[in-house]
Amino acid sequence: MSTSAIPSANNLDAFLMPFTANRQFKKNPRLLAKAKGVHYWTPEGRRIIDGTAGLWCVNAGHGREEIKAAIAAQLEEMDYAPSFQMGHPKAFELAARHAALLPGDLNHAFYCNSGSEAVDSALKIALAYQRARGQGTRTRFVGRERGYHGVGFGGISVGGMVNNRKWFGAMLPGVDHLPHTHLPENAFSRGEPEHGGIALADELERIVGLHDASNIAAVIVEPCAGSTGYLPPPKGYLKRLREICDKHGILLIFDEVITGFGRLGTGFAAERFGVLPDLMTVAKGISNATVPMGGVFVRKHVFDGLMSGSENAIDLFHGYTYSAHPLACAAASAVLDIYRDEALFQRSAELSPYWEDGVHSLKGLPNVVDIRNLGLAAGIDLAPKGAVGTRGYEAFVKAFELGLMVRQSGDAIAMSPPLVIEKAQIDEIIDITARTIKAVA
Ligand SMILES: Cc1ncc(COP(=O)(O)O)c(C=O)c1O
Repeated sequence: MSTSAIPSANNLDAFLMPFTANRQFKKNPRLLAKAKGVHYWTPEGRRIIDGTAGLWCVNAGHGREEIKAAIAAQLEEMDYAPSFQMGHPKAFELAARHAALLPGDLNHAFYCNSGSEAVDSALKIALAYQRARGQGTRTRFVGRERGYHGVGFGGISVGGMVNNRKWFGAMLPGVDHLPHTHLPENAFSRGEPEHGGIALADELERIVGLHDASNIAAVIVEPCAGSTGYLPPPKGYLKRLREICDKHGILLIFDEVITGFGRLGTGFAAERFGVLPDLMTVAKGISNATVPMGGVFVRKHVFDGLMSGSENAIDLFHGYTYSAHPLACAAASAVLDIYRDEALFQRSAELSPYWEDGVHSLKGLPNVVDIRNLGLAAGIDLAPKGAVGTRGYEAFVKAFELGLMVRQSGDAIAMSPPLVIEKAQIDEIIDITARTIKAVA
């Protein structure tokens, strides 16, 4: 199919679209045919400003020549190499570069192909580590309501989004959930909300009291929940979680698939909050979404724990055909160059106050019941209109019609522009969002 042609209705039929109302979509499709910088274009040539960096992933903007060149050169040199009991130089180089970038002793990288794989890998590494250090009874996980950790069985088990869970049976056994962190008293907070951080984190003590720490392997949270409408953690929350995990020998996993690589104005949320997890999952911005890639970074004690068997024994019975795929490694390395050369994490920090003022200027528009922001992202809750999600979907469609891409989650709209966005383009995003909100009143 040529990208310049709109496919006929019949052509749309074969693709079972993910997370999509397929029949509704195919009656009135929203197609994207081209992308450059902070814009998409539809097949008819209509320009859409990318308010969401694709799906929170194109942090350095679209169509970066440097990344294209790196992928093309790698393809020319070697298309593929396995990573089981052999390797290729770019994988080791990339891991060393990531180790240097990451905070603390998060110095070891496992690679996979998506955020979902990263989460399932992290959960398995946590179990393997606990067993390797003689704590094999620690098999339980603690996730959080309204968390999103991808769509693997591990991820939906620790995740807390009902529609992602209810269709899929029993999932992983032995999972508890902390309460979510979205409190009404924190409505319209700028940045980290004031209230409730310690009490919400202390819920972990309740779960430990119920099962005993000797049965709990790990706690996994998004430092700032993304997919359920962007929920920055209340002040003190993550530090307190860290303290409780330390007290009980429980591993803390940060799912930084969205927050990693500059979204919060630091390389990683761990730095922004001054809290070092034992494991960290990443994806999306790791390769600027050019070649699918995910990763798990682990701290020294976790890595050393896995290395405690005999030297000729396989340390981790887990991996993917495409772990450290050469094209993904080439892309990820070129992306690191861009982040460094253009100081994009710093740029994200510098733009955040402007962004914050912009999104909070929407307060007072019809049906706006909450606005949240942290770093270069925001969530805006609209009052429901009939069934939950109706107004949110209308807003998503209307914004697209008006030339802006946003994310919808229920009646919340979330935005997370590429970190290369300009102030005038932020103004445009805010203007279209305001017109959208008025149009769906
Ligand atoms: C925090 C978080 N974890 C995991 C995932 C899953 O990533 P993927 O869609 O690449 O599997 C996402 C995707 O949005 C995410 O936001």
